[in-house]
Amino acid sequence: MTISTTAPILVLGGTGKTGRRVASLLAERGFTPRAAARSAGDVRFDWTDRSTWEPALEGVRAVFLVDSQTWDAAEELGAFSRLAVARGVERLVLLASRAYAELDALGSPGDLLGPERAVREAGAEWTVLRPTWFSQNFAEFPPVSDGMAAGELRLPVGEGRESFIDVRDIAEVAVAALTGDGHAGETYELSGPRALTWREAVGELSRATGREVRFTPLSDQEYRAELAAQGWPEDVVDLFSVVFGHIREGRSDALSDGVRRALGREPRDFAEYAGEYAKEALPSA
Ligand SMILES: NC(=O)c1ccc[n+]([C@@H]2O[C@H](COP(=O)([O-])OP(=O)(O)OC[C@H]3O[C@@H](n4cnc5c(N)ncnc54)[C@H](OP(=O)(O)O)[C@@H]3O)[C@@H](O)[C@H]2O)c1
Repeated sequence: MTISTTAPILVLGGTGKTGRRVASLLAERGFTPRAAARSAGDVRFDWTDRSTWEPALEGVRAVFLVDSQTWDAAEELGAFSRLAVARGVERLVLLASRAYAELDALGSPGDLLGPERAVREAGAEWTVLRPTWFSQNFAEFPPVSDGMAAGELRLPVGEGRESFIDVRDIAEVAVAALTGDGHAGETYELSGPRALTWREAVGELSRATGREVRFTPLSDQEYRAELAAQGWPEDVVDLFSVVFGHIREGRSDALSDGVRRALGREPRDFAEYAGEYAKEALPSA
């Protein structure tokens, strides 16, 4: 199928870490993104308000899907994807998670692969992206970036390694899948080219900015107590505990070939992200 440059491509989570970059890359390449979110973007879209779904789909042939990150995500994605197909959408690209796929295979409770299944079964061409932890979390995800800003990152990841992915690479794969041929029916596991401990990652970022941030590994119990004291809801505390435990236990360090398979090039190294981080962190002269 040919994706026209004038028909809008709907980008859910269009103001978030990934969607924002997908929308700007689409625009750079001459396509017409329609960034959707609750509070800003080109169109208002709210997973919990179904009256916003249909207007967002007007004239759309391809959708980048970011789910609601709630326990209702699979059901909502299924309903929305079916509506999209009924309204003429032919291509769906889902932002999923490699950790969820790994945890599901280990028998974690909950239906972590429900969102992927919902999109595969909707009746359109689909591509699933399963990234590892985003490098950009160090600056853009408060449970991590708040510690970086405060000068001490406290997490229950021990000396476990993570093959951090640069969100710019996820966005490039998403744009390829939304606009190009040969990606339908593919599940791309996306990692960076190197697995780092969090101590090493924080060290690289500290060296890049010249501002020392300390890394303090916490036990799961200590971390849960800190999150609870900050008022995080129990289900979020449970999820963070499982995801960070996965890293601590050394199960998140594999290198994946999805960027090479989708784009024909190697993924960006963490050092490249450290350069970007330093530019954003340091006040311009
Ligand atoms: N962070 C990681 O390291 C990582 C790793 C692997 C996979 N993932 C996956 O990435 C996804 C999150 O993507 P992201 O980190 O790019 O997003 P994000 O930065 O968390 O931003 C969320 C986006 O969704 C919008 N949004 C939030 N609630 C919404 C709702 N109820 N209805 C409509 N829009 C809503 C937000 O805008 P408004 O608030 O204005 O609506 C924003 O645009 C999740 O599925 C996660 O599992 C993340």
